[in-house]
Amino acid sequence: MHAEQDLGKKAPSLALLHSIPMFAGVPDAQLEPILRMAVYRKVPRHTTIVRAGDSTDSLYVIISGNARVQVSDAEGREVILTLLGPGEFFGEMGLIDGSPRSADVVASEVCELLMIAKADFKKGLADNFDLCLNIMKSLVQRLREADRKIESLALMDVYGRVAKLLLEFSTEEDGERVIRRKLTKQDIAKMIGASREMVSRVMKDLEASGYIRVEEGRIVLNED
Ligand code: CMP
Repeated sequence: MHAEQDLGKKAPSLALLHSIPMFAGVPDAQLEPILRMAVYRKVPRHTTIVRAGDSTDSLYVIISGNARVQVSDAEGREVILTLLGPGEFFGEMGLIDGSPRSADVVASEVCELLMIAKADFKKGLADNFDLCLNIMKSLVQRLREADRKIESLALMDVYGRVAKLLLEFSTEEDGERVIRRKLTKQDIAKMIGASREMVSRVMKDLEASGYIRVEEGRIVLNED
């Protein structure tokens, strides 16, 4: 872990593992060894938890907080591949195919993490088909998201890309589509391959036209 600073340590519980989608259906007898070996970490905002190109040693599960998966070029230009939140995992790609880390994963805010060492993760996979299936389902979901992103980059203008991204990050709340997740204009720009200024202009236009309502701590989408 890079620039890591432990802010505290807390023993993870079986109940916590049960609440994580990756472990759905995995019996206690197989979760217990994972739990014994898992290491709890709390990292500050801006910590690079894994760095592209590094060799792989662990899988990470986010207990709380949000992180960005991003890649950058030699000039420091960044593309955000996705945002990850509580219950989601990362670092599985290198563990599965033995290649170096494919991207940086950076804490957008203080993150609580569970670190599972490569050997323990592989043993867990060998022992439990539900765990394999859950990982496969997540990989398929990530591939679907990547397909949708390629489609929007190739076929949509910036208005379309912003609108699509807002829709993807929204959830249903009392009959409205609402985005609760903190989404900065800079993050949106880095996710859709546009400038921050352009995203700002598009968001203003969407608001002025009544398509979105920006409120304290949330954005409401108007689907009419
Ligand atoms: P790994 O390559 O070991 O380290 C970087 C991690 O970022 C990678 O494993 C995945 O867990 C995660 N990652 C890379 N690309 C994506 C993506 N498109 N969507 C979600 N997560 C990703």
